[in-house]
Amino acid sequence: DKEQQQPPPPKPKQRNLLDNASNLLTNFLSGGSVGTMPVAEGAVTDLFGKPLFFSLYDWFLEHGSVYKLAFGPKSFVVVSDPIVARHILRENAFCYDKGVLAEILKPIMGKGLIPADLDTWKQRRKVITPGFHALFIEAMVRIFTKCSERTISKLEQLTESEGQVIMDLEAEFSNLALDIIGLGVFNFDFDSVTKESPVIKAVYGTLFEAEHRSTFYIPYWNLPFTKWIVPRQRKFHSDLKVINDCLDNLIKNAKETRQEADVEKLQQRDYSSLKDVSLLRFLVDMRGADVDDRQLRDDLMTMLIAGHETTAAVLTWSVFLLAQSPTKMRKAQAEVDSVLSNGAITVESLKKLEYIKLIILEALRLYPQPPLLIRRSLQPDKLPGGYNGAKEGYEIPTGTDIFVSVYNLHRSPYFWDRPNEFEPERFSVPKKEESIEGWSGFDPSRSPGAMYPNEIIADFAFLPFGGGPRKCVGDQFALLESTVALSLLLQKFDVELRGSPDEVEMVTGATIHTKNGLWCRLRRRT
Ligand code: HEM
Repeated sequence: DKEQQQPPPPKPKQRNLLDNASNLLTNFLSGGSVGTMPVAEGAVTDLFGKPLFFSLYDWFLEHGSVYKLAFGPKSFVVVSDPIVARHILRENAFCYDKGVLAEILKPIMGKGLIPADLDTWKQRRKVITPGFHALFIEAMVRIFTKCSERTISKLEQLTESEGQVIMDLEAEFSNLALDIIGLGVFNFDFDSVTKESPVIKAVYGTLFEAEHRSTFYIPYWNLPFTKWIVPRQRKFHSDLKVINDCLDNLIKNAKETRQEADVEKLQQRDYSSLKDVSLLRFLVDMRGADVDDRQLRDDLMTMLIAGHETTAAVLTWSVFLLAQSPTKMRKAQAEVDSVLSNGAITVESLKKLEYIKLIILEALRLYPQPPLLIRRSLQPDKLPGGYNGAKEGYEIPTGTDIFVSVYNLHRSPYFWDRPNEFEPERFSVPKKEESIEGWSGFDPSRSPGAMYPNEIIADFAFLPFGGGPRKCVGDQFALLESTVALSLLLQKFDVELRGSPDEVEMVTGATIHTKNGLWCRLRRRT
């Protein structure tokens, strides 16, 4: 819990004539794609030994808030600037698609929301967003509680004889998040907290392959015959078949048991008396039996993947941070004890867990999931002038690959005091006035009644769930889910790291996770 001196924000690098000339030359040699944007030369060694986003951060401090990263013949524009991020994600969002990310995810998610082309996306987003309405979220809180209690009672059994146990909490959070997403999205109980099934193994196998693809330079899986020849590709296709068969059965069942009712009645129905409250039920009931099975399957698969690892990761890093701050852990436990002492968990009681929510948001600030948002320009664009060396703005030709580095934005010394410190309280104290041209500072009045400090309040300097039209559809779901799980854990246990924090190494694919698990000592609270 020790306070640290805040280092002064680094100064933008002064450029001299030689620098500019060398940038011009590099841009010219690589196709002249991005004007005189500063260039960071990536070496292949930057990809090994540490996650790429660490190097992206160092280059951000060196080259400024918009720079070009050249890896041999490949190049990416790296954006760590709220003004430019706002332009790409919101103001000119439809000038971009998901580029490399869509290429990696299409074989798994088909035309699901994340990789979908713009026409499909527009149509499906309109159908899916209403599914996350208030009554659905209320019903989900019961599922979050039921599943979290199942995890807690497993941990209680394990600590029964000695009052403590050492275990990998990341694995437990992963199982818990899988159970919740299965029940919430398609009413399927993986029950992965207590058992292993072929479907669970297939889900983990598919996630593993998606992650491998996201860090592999050459898309060898697109080459003909790899599906049959390369063993890991054979396994991937057989895992995918297991999940697809399972989802197809669930869709068939949902269609066969469909009840005729109009949309309005559906939205008003009493979710507490329904057996199946899942999103699939809602999508099938709303749209009728004629909804395309393949599209539904892609939607469910997308939600399964988008909602599973992300939530497991935010719980993992929340505990990692809390375990190093006993004072903050006690403060959180005191809040949980006072709020949850009487009665069942509801949306209303969760709103009172203010400090727990801030812990989760602070964990998302320090470990954003995913750490980079990926885009590719569909037509030429002009990026607005930003701050720190990017004042004049840059021309972006069609086909430019862009990384919006949420990690850099969230740890930017220009926007955050003590950016690398874990301080959940930072969100509840008014921010100092900033005078960066084009950026309107932190202002809660821009989003009155917001459930959490969001991208609107921070004018795109804080993007825990992205921003603009492609913002996460499951943000409330995820926040309430994490709040329930973390609160119930802290209600029953004190948590310590087994070793030193440095031993918990980071690995990234789509999300930031640990290399060998989050090994913790859990002690029952008396
Ligand atoms: C999109 C984060 C949980 C479903 C996104 C995006 C972010 C994000 C940053 C925007 C990606 C981009 O712009 O490229 C998170 C985090 C979560 C979480 C941090 C947990 C803490 C969930 C859950 C679900 C979900 C629980 C579903 C139940 C989606 C979908 C999209 C998305 C479908 C794509 C939206 C679109 O393109 O229209 N998420 N998410 N997410 N998320 Fe989440």
